[in-house]
Amino acid sequence: MKKGNDLFRYPFIFYLYKEINNIMKTFYPDSISKKALHQIMLGTITPRPIAFVSTVDNEGIRNLAPFSYFNAISSNPPMLVLSVNRNTDGSKKDTLLNIEKTGECVVNMVDSSIANQMVLASTAFSKSTDEFMKSGLTPISSSTTKAYGVKESPVRFECKLERIINFGDFAGASSLIICNVSCVHIEEKAFDKNGKIDPVSLNIIGRLGRAFYVKTTKESVFSIPHLKTKTPLGFDNLPTSITNSKVLSGNDISKIAGLENLPTIGEVKHLKHLLDSFGPEVVHQIAGAELQTGDIHSAAKLLMTVEYFL
Ligand SMILES: Cc1cc2nc3c(=O)[nH]c(=O)nc-3n(C[C@H](O)[C@H](O)[C@H](O)COP(=O)(O)O)c2cc1C
Repeated sequence: MKKGNDLFRYPFIFYLYKEINNIMKTFYPDSISKKALHQIMLGTITPRPIAFVSTVDNEGIRNLAPFSYFNAISSNPPMLVLSVNRNTDGSKKDTLLNIEKTGECVVNMVDSSIANQMVLASTAFSKSTDEFMKSGLTPISSSTTKAYGVKESPVRFECKLERIINFGDFAGASSLIICNVSCVHIEEKAFDKNGKIDPVSLNIIGRLGRAFYVKTTKESVFSIPHLKTKTPLGFDNLPTSITNSKVLSGNDISKIAGLENLPTIGEVKHLKHLLDSFGPEVVHQIAGAELQTGDIHSAAKLLMTVEYFL
C-alpha cells in the first residue's frame, strides 16, 4: 500500500481493500524497538485481567500495585502467575522485592468502582510509602497472609510464593512469580440465586492497550452454550453447500458443525417447498435467523434442504 494514496483517505475503500487483500502487518521481535514490541503485546493480547497486588515489606510497610501480565494457571492445585518487569535502571519493583522477602501476597481483582484508584496505585511511589493511604483504599486483614487485602475489591486471593523465574536483570526484564492460592474471598453479591458466579455483578475490568480498559457489562457479555455432543461433526464433515455459504458466518457454521449428525433427507423433505419458492440464498438466511434464536436443529434441516434438493 502506497502512503499518501488518495484511495486510502476514504475509510470504506480502505476497508474493501483490506477485505480483498486480507492485509496483515508482520513483525519480527528483533527488527522492531523494544518499546514498539511492548505496545504490540499490550495492545493485542487483550483483554488482560489485572492483579492488584498487595504486599508488605519486612518493616510492615504496605505496598499496592497493578499487574496485567497475570493469569490463573492451575485450579488443582490453585495457582496464579504474574510477571513483574524490572524498572528502567534494571532495579526490582517493590512488589517483587517484597514477595522475594516475605513469600506472600494478596491478589485483589479490580472492578470498575476502584479502577482510578488502581491506576493511582501504579505510580512509582518511594519504597517507604503506604500505597493504601496514597490510593485511598482500605486495608483488610487476611486469613493466611500478613499482606493485607483491598477491602473495596470484589475478590481477594491470598497467595504463598511457589517460585520465581527471572528472565534477566536488564531494564524491562521480567520475573515470573508463581503463587499458590491459600485462601479466596468473594463478595456475596457476585453469586446469583443458584449460587453461581455472575460476571456482570462482579464487573471485573480488563486491560487493553495504551490507556484503555474494558468493563464486564450486561451489553458486553454473551454466552456460548457448551456442546452437548461428544463427537461433533466438525467443519470437515459438513457439505460444501454449508461451508461455502455466502450468508452464514464461521460462527454460524460452527453451530451446525457442533451437531453429531445432520438431518436425513426424510427429515427435511417437507421443507423443500421453501427452497422451491425462495431459492437457496433466502433458505440460508432463514437458517441464519434460526441459528440466532438458538434453534440449531431447525437451521440444520433448512440447510440440508438446499444440499439434498438443489
Ligand atoms: C493496569 C496496569 C497494569 C500493569 N501491569 C504491569 C505488569 O504486568 N508488569 C509490570 O511490571 N508493571 C505493570 N504495571 C506497572 C506497575 O503497576 C508499576 O510499575 C508500579 O509502580 C509497580 O509498583 P511497585 O514498585 O510498588 O511494585 C501496570 C500498571 C497498570 C496501571
